[in-house]
Amino acid sequence: MADPWQAAMDHAVAVARKAGAVIRDALQNEVKVMCKSSSVDLVTKTDQKVEQLIIASVKEKFPDHSFIGEESVAAGQPCILTDNPTWIIDPVDGTTNFVHGFPFVAVSIGFAVKKELEFGVVYSCVEDKMYTGRKGKGAFCDGEKLQVSDQTEIKKSMIISELGSNRDAPTVNKIFSTMQKILCIPVHGLRGSGTAATNMCMVASGAVEAFFEIGIHCWDIAAGAVIVTEAGGVLLDVDGGPFDLMSRRMVSANNKTIADRIIKEIDIFPAERDDAV
Ligand code: IPD
Repeated sequence: MADPWQAAMDHAVAVARKAGAVIRDALQNEVKVMCKSSSVDLVTKTDQKVEQLIIASVKEKFPDHSFIGEESVAAGQPCILTDNPTWIIDPVDGTTNFVHGFPFVAVSIGFAVKKELEFGVVYSCVEDKMYTGRKGKGAFCDGEKLQVSDQTEIKKSMIISELGSNRDAPTVNKIFSTMQKILCIPVHGLRGSGTAATNMCMVASGAVEAFFEIGIHCWDIAAGAVIVTEAGGVLLDVDGGPFDLMSRRMVSANNKTIADRIIKEIDIFPAERDDAV
């Protein structure tokens, strides 16, 4: 049977490439920075312009589809996943990297139908790497099949995480305490690229065994979630329960052994759900 979402996925790849070119261009110029929830939660004209570009282009081709976009939500649009085909968009994942010229910035486009993720596209636009995942059909980077690492020993693993944009001292203490415990297991290394979408692609590629974070949003991880699972990896909540796209917390790993070992060390702190009303 023909894939009902192939045309949407092809469009996502094309528009992500176009968006990435706009971001690369903008990196050549001075970037004007604005703040959202705090002085470290940044947004730029490029985030807004790229999101508008993606949404306008998708609307033209798929007028009945719905959208959850980082900047539209910041502007007051609802962040509720319905059964309707829905594009979940982070136009510039790694905005802080973008502002500083730190070269990991991604366009992230996830697509869900009946609340189930169908495909994900992550375009790491400075590196010019196109990651894709289609439910049941595998994950790829520039056409090459992705496979998670087969490592089961935590002491031979590399882990990736982020410090996030919460600067509340007790929360920051919990983040550092988790990282310290994981580092001292010991693991081979602890990394962070500054973009959740790229971090998930690193799990899918086998470059790291796991990525975890509390505080991410659905648009940071929707696309990566498909790419990781299609590369053979697992997604879990930070308490070991099932992954919930709207919960703002996630462990993605090459296998359950590594995920469970990391989960043991995570000091959980509250983060308001994306779909809280
Ligand atoms: C952020 C990045 C970062 C992660 C934050 C995200 P943004 O997304 O993915 O790696 O630590 O939690 O909010 O704001 O650059 O799109």
